[in-house]
This record gives sequence, C-alpha cells and structure tokens, in this order.
Amino acid sequence: WRPDDEDDPRRRGASGPVKVRVPAKVNLHLGVGPLRRDGYHELNTVYHAISIHDELTARRGDTLTLTMEGEGAGELALDDSNLVIRAAHALAGYAGVLPHARLHLRKQIPLAGGLAGGSADAAAALVACDTLWGTGLSRDELAGIAADLGSDVPFLIHGGTALGTGRGEAVSPVLARPTSWHWVVALADGGLSTPAAYAELDRLRAAGAAGEPLGSTDALFAALRQRDPRVLAAALGNDLQDAALAMRPSLAATLKAGEAAGALAGIVSGSGPTCVFLALDQADAARIAAELDTAGVCRDARVAHGPVPGARVV
Ligand code: C5P
Repeated sequence: WRPDDEDDPRRRGASGPVKVRVPAKVNLHLGVGPLRRDGYHELNTVYHAISIHDELTARRGDTLTLTMEGEGAGELALDDSNLVIRAAHALAGYAGVLPHARLHLRKQIPLAGGLAGGSADAAAALVACDTLWGTGLSRDELAGIAADLGSDVPFLIHGGTALGTGRGEAVSPVLARPTSWHWVVALADGGLSTPAAYAELDRLRAAGAAGEPLGSTDALFAALRQRDPRVLAAALGNDLQDAALAMRPSLAATLKAGEAAGALAGIVSGSGPTCVFLALDQADAARIAAELDTAGVCRDARVAHGPVPGARVV
C-alpha cells in the first residue's frame, strides 16, 4: 500500500465526468519533403495551436460509446473507425485497463478542414481517458501513443508553437517569449482529403508545376522572436497550398479577399480548405472577419488567437 498513489486522483481515476478542451492547429510553415517508402512525406513544419476548441467529456460506463454534437454531427462515423474510439482502445491496451467510457464530443473544429480536427479529438480522448481511468501517464507517454494514431496527434497533446519533423509526429516545443498572434479563420463548405492533397502535390511536382519548396524554418523562427506580426506575415508558407488551390480553385478568391480586407498575410491551413489570415491585432481581426463574412467567400469567418495549450482537463 502506497499512500502517495492512493492520494493521487490521477491514479484513482475520476468518478465524475472528465471534460477536456483541445485546440485546432495551423501550420505557420509547412515544408513538404519527398514521399517516403512508408507512404508519408518527410515534413519540416511549425505547428501553432489556436483558440478554436473541441470539447470531449468522458464518463464512467460499462462499454465504450461515443456521441457528438456541433461541426460535422451526423457526417462522422461513431464506430471503431472513429479516431476517438481508436485512441481510447490504444490507451487501454497500453495501460492494461478495460476501455469502458461514455464519451461525448462537442465540435467547433470542422471536419477535413486542414485544422487537424480529428487529430485534436484523438488527443482529447487520450487525456480524458487517462484521467477517467487513473492510468496517470506522462505527456510524453501519451504523445508516444498519439504518434500511432496520426501525424498531428502528438502536437495536439502539447499545444503551443512547436517544430514538427519526421512525418510530423516528432515534436519539439518552441521556447519563445509569450506573444499572442491574432488570426482570422475562414471556414469553407465541405472538406478536402489530406492524402489527396499530398498526392496532388506529388503530381504537380512531377509535372514541374509546383512552386519552389519552402526550405528552412530559420526565417519563421526569427520572425517569431521579433514579435512583429508584419515580419511573421512575410515568413508564413505552406507547400501544400498549390495542391489545395488546384483541388479547390475558389480558395484563390478567399485568400485575395482576406488580403484586400487588410490581413497581413493569408495562407491555406494544412491541406485546406480552411484559410487563415494574420491580423495586426484583435480589433483588426474582428474587422477582417466581418468583411470576409460580408464578401461571401467562406462559410464562416472566425477570430482566434494563438498559441494556446494542447489538450487539457478543464
Ligand atoms: O498521419 P495521418 O493519418 O494524419 O495522415 C493522413 C494521410 O496524409 C497519410 O495517409 C498520407 O497520405 C498523408 N500524409 C503524408 N505525409 C505526412 C503526413 C500525412 O503523406 N507527413
């Protein structure tokens, strides 16, 4: 009998509901290298967590069930193919416990939007079930399980701003003086498939029709240190943007409208179709979002700030 363990609620597990908030991500720099033999591309990316959140609540149950509301409700399978269910099974298997929980997801992050919504939900499930079951794993252990669930999942355990290498799963936090950046996030109708966007980039590159690859993250890190949004704006870049624009040509008008409304820069987020715009400050972000809504170039324009923490019990 070890009193420390008995007193640690993380080891005892939770009797009441456990609620976890998890952010969306954007890539400030998404450098895509060659296609590897395992079907993934080597990445050099800078992840950034922003204040658009999903919320996962975990309660005790006799089986494993998932319900959801909000973005994408009714469109997403809630069976064993769902990343949340797969995350719960992966943690239970690792920790040697029964995967019993009643999970409920409230989504604000769109499906297949390039904001890592599915990965965020998997990260939330790991953190929520770890607390519910009292398995008490460290963030690094959780990130290790996360890597098998998807390339972006480890980052969403950590949050903040971080360098991602390998296929994106190797995450090192960026230590920077605290600065808040202000974003406008333009959601699109419908999603884009991530594998299809990577395949389109390979096709464009083979045809000599893709832009120059981004290269090093040095300019981006220098810009983060300078804490001047105008400097950061000039350093943003995404190798998948040409592919997203080829698959969804209307995004060109969205990007143009954001810049016309005074955004310092606009880029496609990840594999799209969400576009994100950097604003000078919070008031500017609100004004740009209102203009984008009026211009009718997106389904919904939201303001957000970053960096924010990764999946956390609230
Ligand atoms: O890791 P995740 O399951 O999120 O990746 C989804 C798909 O995106 C992969 O199957 C692959 O087609 C593509 N991908 C890639 N290179 C990466 C990450 C993802 O080609 N680094």
